[in-house]
Amino acid sequence: MNTATIMNSMTESDTFPINGTDFIEFYVGNAKQASLYYQHCLGFELIAYRGPETGSRDIVSYVVKQGKVVFVLTSALNPNHEILKHVAQHGDGVKVLALWVDNARDAYQKAIERGAESAFEPYKIEDEFGYIIVAAIKTYGETIHTLVERSNYSGPFMPGYRPAKSEVAVKPLGFKYVDHCVGNVELGQMNRWVKFYEEVLGFKLLVTFDDKDISTEYSALMSKVVSNGNGYIKFPINEPANGKKKSQIEEYLDFYKSAGVQHIALETDNILATVEGMRKNGIEFLYVPDNYYEDVLDRVGKIDETIEDLKRLNILVDRDEEGYLLQIFTKPIQDRPTVFFEIIERHGAKSFGKGNFKALFESIEREQELRGNL
Ligand code: FE2
Repeated sequence: MNTATIMNSMTESDTFPINGTDFIEFYVGNAKQASLYYQHCLGFELIAYRGPETGSRDIVSYVVKQGKVVFVLTSALNPNHEILKHVAQHGDGVKVLALWVDNARDAYQKAIERGAESAFEPYKIEDEFGYIIVAAIKTYGETIHTLVERSNYSGPFMPGYRPAKSEVAVKPLGFKYVDHCVGNVELGQMNRWVKFYEEVLGFKLLVTFDDKDISTEYSALMSKVVSNGNGYIKFPINEPANGKKKSQIEEYLDFYKSAGVQHIALETDNILATVEGMRKNGIEFLYVPDNYYEDVLDRVGKIDETIEDLKRLNILVDRDEEGYLLQIFTKPIQDRPTVFFEIIERHGAKSFGKGNFKALFESIEREQELRGNL
């Protein structure tokens, strides 16, 4: 784990500097099996563990890492534990979007002064590798932002965890870092959460998509993207909009039972190899019809990849003023149609693939239809 902080990472409007995503924690029904999915299917290395063997009587966590992406897979051993209540309510899902900060006490204090609700107060945890200070604030649904100060820590993850290693050879698939994390919130709540990020964390509104941008014949959604000053943290917030049939956001809310994280976008610098590897390992992606590729070059102009490769792997492409991007979306990664991953490779483009929204949502609707949820 990188312990050095990044200088000049703060711009004027930020409430406190954020150096990037620290970790993302999933509450799951079976952390042991989930950790093997991330190792075998997605090429993550196991780096740390906590459980009864380390003195954690109720909670088991496996920490997996690839590039700068750190996922914590957590379950509980006692049916009355809040973690298993969370799993019963939401299914497997994202509980924590942790932010890497320079000073967790100061960051927490400032966030609370600006109206954040506390999830837990700052405390220090120590082991032979040094110490970490953590605190947390609440965001949409039951999701929280843990603020992690780790400049005085040199261990693989955090005190309370022991270092661990994958028992099998793990083949990394090229994930570099978290590009953005998307939240789905209830009808009429998008602006409330945009305001929260603006007022509490000093984020800026980057872009707005209304239901005219994101609609098909049947369903629609609205989205606003907020970002911190250095752009390392980007949170699009979606809410459903009225359409003829049920939107994908409503389907998510029906099954997640509250607002929550919809997808996590992981950056790769070789999306062809990444997606090829994921497909070989059994990961399923949304299907885009062949006719998507017929006129795509007219829309996006010259790109380095061949259309044949993109078509073979079902990768989407879009262009903005600054460059182009390649992207693809997995099907949901658990039984409920809730959380999924986006894989993205940016060639200068800073946007989110607006040109693909229609093709993408039609593809999602086909899946919803199969589930009987359209
Ligand atoms: Fe995305």
